[in-house]
Amino acid sequence: MAIERRLVKAASVFSVVIAATALTACHTTTAAESPRPAATGESLARQESAAQITEGQRVFRFETFGDEKLWTDTLHLNEVVEKSVDPTTALKVGLKVDSDVLPAGILQKVDLKSPATTVALLKMNAVVGLQATVDANNHITRLGVTCALCHSNVDNSVMAGIGKRKDGWPNRDLNVGAIIALSPALPADKKAVYNSWGPGKYDPRYNQDGKSTPLMLPPPYGLAQIKNETYTAEGPISYWNAYVAVTQMGGQGNFSDKRLGIDVKHSPDLVTSKLPALRAYQHSLAAPAPPAGSVDAAGAQRGRTVFDRTCASCHVGGSGTDNNDGKLHPPAETGMDGAYAARTANKAYRTTPLRGLWQHAPYFHDGSAATLADVVTHYNRVRKLGLTAEQQSDLVEYLKSL
Ligand code: HEC
Ligand code: HEC
Repeated sequence: MAIERRLVKAASVFSVVIAATALTACHTTTAAESPRPAATGESLARQESAAQITEGQRVFRFETFGDEKLWTDTLHLNEVVEKSVDPTTALKVGLKVDSDVLPAGILQKVDLKSPATTVALLKMNAVVGLQATVDANNHITRLGVTCALCHSNVDNSVMAGIGKRKDGWPNRDLNVGAIIALSPALPADKKAVYNSWGPGKYDPRYNQDGKSTPLMLPPPYGLAQIKNETYTAEGPISYWNAYVAVTQMGGQGNFSDKRLGIDVKHSPDLVTSKLPALRAYQHSLAAPAPPAGSVDAAGAQRGRTVFDRTCASCHVGGSGTDNNDGKLHPPAETGMDGAYAARTANKAYRTTPLRGLWQHAPYFHDGSAATLADVVTHYNRVRKLGLTAEQQSDLVEYLKSL
């Protein structure tokens, strides 16, 4: 089947110990940026201690789980980056730079058109979601990825693509497919598929079933009260974290799911023991509040009434989901394209918990609604709601407030 499937298989055959410790050296967290447990946490979140959350942040940002086996040994992306990815190109494919670790004034001194600068940034551990080991001759000897690659952004406070980390803000500029397609190890037909996805999207099953219906990179914030993760409610947060770490990132850990016919084992398992801390950190990520002045309060108030009447049966209480009561929705019920759901265990979509909507356009699993107005137009048509133009704009104001 797909080359990538062989990669996963191969990765499971060789149980090579990667010196993960060497890659995660020198990450410090200052008191000011220490993550805090979500204020509104349920009992589970409360059991998650501050120490566990801090460790979870480290895992989320910097842990590769030994996935250098995929990104370096198999895909050889370390060589491509070293040879031909200058910072301007890196920013263009959506990679982000963490300004907190840059020495003052450095950006004025360096050549943003030189791949050597990218190597220097990697050496400083400044590229969000990438972990590199750089030798004394400035060669990248190991390159791996972390959860932050797809699920963190920066606030652009220095320049577009460079600023302070925003964990949980999905990177909708990131062209993961284009980055993978840089690998010299992939045949042209696979590269064409990877290049077809575009920014902000990734198909987390392409290397399993060979089909391609890419998903929007979702925000992992605001999920503390949510039982099942993913657009199709595959399982709880640690189930999905393990799936991604092992089958997508190439992490050296264990994952098995009979429904999907996947059973990957590594010894030692570099994933499983990190899942509780990782979950604690994700649960601590609250949905970002809308910027001050961005919502018309009176409109949102009226919109809430419309929402309670037409949407809350599934989107329980606005930010919740009827999936917490075990419900799922066939694609046609909400007018969704069913191609992705058909590839999953449950063949249906979970009602997406509505959180930080102002922050992460476009919407729905496939990004088929560019704006919140498009979301409302979609429902008005598909569910024959007969909403007036005013009701629709009120509803948009309410959605912006969530
Ligand atoms: C290559 C990009 C990529 C990487 C790396 C990645 N993810 Fe994801 N993640 C996705 C995509 C795409 C989805 C959407 C899958 C779905 O919902 O069906 C997703 C979904 C999720 C969700 C579910 C969100 C929701 O709305 O329920 C969580 C939580 C999550 N990822 C956490 C993680 C963690 C933790 C890691 C590191 C172990 C990680 N992801 C690594 C792309 C990525
Ligand atoms: C029958 C259940 C149901 C009803 C009623 C419903 N939704 Fe949804 N909603 C869903 C499902 C299922 C999804 C996930 C669809 C997908 O991603 O393909 C979803 C997704 C969304 C999203 C996308 C969130 C994101 O982060 O991408 C928004 C916004 C939304 N709904 C708003 C509304 C509004 C507004 C209404 C009322 C007009 C409404 N929904 C009514 C089930 C429902």
